[in-house]
Amino acid sequence: MTGPANPAPEPLISAARIAARVDELAAEIDVQYAGVDDLVLIGVLKGSFIFLADLSRRLTVPHRIEFIAVSSYGDAESTAHPGDVRLIMDIRHRVYGSHVLLVEDIVDTGHTIAYLQRLLAARGPASLRTCALVRKPERAEVEVPVDYLGFDIPDVWVVGYGLDWAERYRTLPDICVVHPEP
Ligand code: PRP
Repeated sequence: MTGPANPAPEPLISAARIAARVDELAAEIDVQYAGVDDLVLIGVLKGSFIFLADLSRRLTVPHRIEFIAVSSYGDAESTAHPGDVRLIMDIRHRVYGSHVLLVEDIVDTGHTIAYLQRLLAARGPASLRTCALVRKPERAEVEVPVDYLGFDIPDVWVVGYGLDWAERYRTLPDICVVHPEP
C-alpha cells in the first residue's frame, strides 16, 4: 500500500516489556478460566493477530481461536455517523454457551469494542470478557469494560506488534510512535 513518506517510528514499549506483560495477562486468564473447557478467543482483525498469537501460546487453559473483522466508516461515508462500525467478517462457529474472550490490539474511541460486545452478548455466550493490548484513555468516547489490559498509553499514533500506519509497521517487534504528516 502506498502513502506519504515514512515517519520514523520511535520506540514506546519494548518487545521485552510486551512479552513480560503478555506473560502476566496469560497467567491471569489461566486463573480466571481454570477448569473451563469451552473458552473461545476471538481476535479482532487485523491488528490483534500478533498479540493473539503470543497470548494464545502462553495460555495453558484449553481454548479455540476465532477471528472477526470490522471496519469503521470513514469520513467519505456521508450517511454514516461517527462511531458507526460494520461487520466485515464474522466468526466461523457459534459461541452460544461458550466462554468468549475478545482479543483486541487497541481501544481508541471504544466504538469497535462496544459494537463487538453488543454483537457477541446477543449470541448467548456463557461469559464475555475483553482483553486489549493497549488503550488510549484520552480518546475514549464510550466507556467499555476491558477485563485484561496490557498498557494505557497517551494519545499518540502507535505502530508495531500488529498495529499499523497505512498498513505499514505491523511487524515491528516494539510498539513505536509515529508522527504522520498532518
Ligand atoms: C483499530 C483497532 C481496533 C479499532 C479501535 O482497527 O484494531 O479494532 O481500530 O478503534 P476504536 O476504539 O476507535 O473503535 P483498524 O480500523 O485500524 O483496523 P486494523 O486492526 O485492521 O488495523
